[in-house]
Amino acid sequence: MGQVQDKVAFITGAASGIGAACARVLAKEGAHVVITDVDAVRGMALEAEITSAGGSAMFMTQDVADEARWKECVDETMKRFGRLDIAVANAGIAIFGPVLDMTLADWRRQNAVNLDGVFLTAKYCVPAMRAGTRGGSLIMISSVAGLRGSGMLAGYSASKGAVRLFAKSMAMECAAAGDGIRVNSVHPGIILTPIWEKAATAAGGGLNAPLNPYDLASAGVPLGKPADPSEIANGVLCLASDMSSHMTGAELVIDGGMTAGSVRRR
Ligand SMILES: NC(=O)c1ccc[n+]([C@@H]2O[C@H](COP(=O)([O-])OP(=O)(O)OC[C@H]3O[C@@H](n4cnc5c(N)ncnc54)[C@H](O)[C@@H]3O)[C@@H](O)[C@H]2O)c1
Repeated sequence: MGQVQDKVAFITGAASGIGAACARVLAKEGAHVVITDVDAVRGMALEAEITSAGGSAMFMTQDVADEARWKECVDETMKRFGRLDIAVANAGIAIFGPVLDMTLADWRRQNAVNLDGVFLTAKYCVPAMRAGTRGGSLIMISSVAGLRGSGMLAGYSASKGAVRLFAKSMAMECAAAGDGIRVNSVHPGIILTPIWEKAATAAGGGLNAPLNPYDLASAGVPLGKPADPSEIANGVLCLASDMSSHMTGAELVIDGGMTAGSVRRR
């Protein structure tokens, strides 16, 4: 028996990085994983990888900011698997640069994915979870940038800080409803995913070169290195499973010590 055996998990932005790692670990632990992303090529490749390893996966193309598509994707999930137990609101983009250089269009585009996408995950996944009898776990991927300020990432930080308090508020709504649904946020630090390569092109007037996560981690992470996406996925597995049955409204910080303090290396 896996730790999430026979549960149904919906993961957004799951074609790459942290979302893909969540899909792999939840499938390995027995869940049926619904993978959605705007990137159909990588999404379909991940579906094939998981199913050929003996897991259960279904990919659907989805832009998390598109409300009409949310209804279709959740309806398709219920048609195929008949229930929903876990939702991971993971899809996100990061637009780097001085806030005064940021256009309103980029500010809104980032919030559409990072914040509207999380709101729509809750709006469409919670009713599907409530249709079952086993409660559920809603996991929102925020960031250390949702816990403290980040220069050159002000818009991103604002979206991730909002996700942190949205998770706590949703946790209270679900607790008040007595629906057995737990809601928690996850706060990764510096993780080895393609998001850093995309930094160069995320905004029209963005950076000229990708950011190097190894350099950033060496300077700012007490453990001295960036994390592998699987190290975040393991935390998500804990929140998704019954091991975390008394956790709701909590923040799971997986950052190599970044927000705890700073160290002087020997
Ligand atoms: N990598 C890090 O260091 C780090 C740190 C803290 C938080 N995060 C957060 O983790 C989450 C995953 O990021 P990642 O590092 O794996 O990045 P990633 O770029 O590897 O993966 C993000 C995925 O989201 C998808 N996506 C983008 N816009 C979308 C949309 N509108 N609808 C659906 N899918 C969309 C992309 O196609 C991609 O597959 C994000 O919310 C990010 O903000 C990442």
